[in-house]
Amino acid sequence: MSSSPRSDAAAGTRLWDDRAALESLRGVLDPADRAGYKNFYLDRLQKLVLEPELRRFRPEAVLDVGCGVGRLSAWVAERFGARVRAVDASPAMIEAARRRHGSSSPVSFELFDGRRLGGEPGGVDVALAVYALGAIESDAALADLLADVRRLLRPGGGALVYDHAAEGREKLLRSPEGGFYWLNRTPEQYRRLFEAAGFRLEVARAVAAPQQGLMIRAHHRGLLPGRAFVLLPWLVRLDRLYAARRRPRRRDDFDLLLVFVAT
Ligand SMILES: C[S@@+](CC[C@H](N)C(=O)[O-])C[C@H]1O[C@@H](n2cnc3c(N)ncnc32)[C@H](O)[C@@H]1O
Repeated sequence: MSSSPRSDAAAGTRLWDDRAALESLRGVLDPADRAGYKNFYLDRLQKLVLEPELRRFRPEAVLDVGCGVGRLSAWVAERFGARVRAVDASPAMIEAARRRHGSSSPVSFELFDGRRLGGEPGGVDVALAVYALGAIESDAALADLLADVRRLLRPGGGALVYDHAAEGREKLLRSPEGGFYWLNRTPEQYRRLFEAAGFRLEVARAVAAPQQGLMIRAHHRGLLPGRAFVLLPWLVRLDRLYAARRRPRRRDDFDLLLVFVAT
């Protein structure tokens, strides 16, 4: 991959600055989902998958890397009563996050210049990176970021990654304009990068893509009206069990949950 350490953050923010203007969850999940059902579903599913993994680290201080508009930062703060430091490379995302969550939020939103994450070493219980690391094309830049994250974590603290991934070999996705959009790394690539930064892999699990979930499939077949997504959030729980038992349909683009422990 390209190896211009720390250049990704600045170069890649224009796309994310534009996305920050989209309403609801479209800026950070699927921008094409105007009706909002898929994004609603995905948001619920991710929180269900992440919650037990976060809980085991007793999160009081959390770092949310690539926080976007603070979708998960605010949820973690509320759910666990945690202090959350949320960082993102896009100025527009950080502005939108501050606007959405207000100044009394227990989350501090910070613009990250892609160079160095300052802060007291060892004070963080969990670092979260959801749909974020794939936006960093260069392995060298990611390695630097992971070294910073490791420095901030307490020994035994966790790094939770939820991202698009590929099996066997990585897959690079381009934006419609032809620029870099996303790198679907393999679980093995992530393992190597994290181990080199001082982490041990605990969990690597494929999570079915939203279009494989029961709710989305039923909706696409006209069996489930859109409003059922709002009225029946417990169905997402059922779906999690269903999704957990299915193999991803696409080997070059599936969602992956990784849990690493700082050694
Ligand atoms: C798909 S959004 C996900 C946001 C959030 N984690 C969520 O799941 O709601 C990806 C985010 O990563 C941010 N990002 C891209 N490159 C980054 C980098 N090098 N450092 C920090 N954030 C970055 C983008 O600005 C964008 O807000």
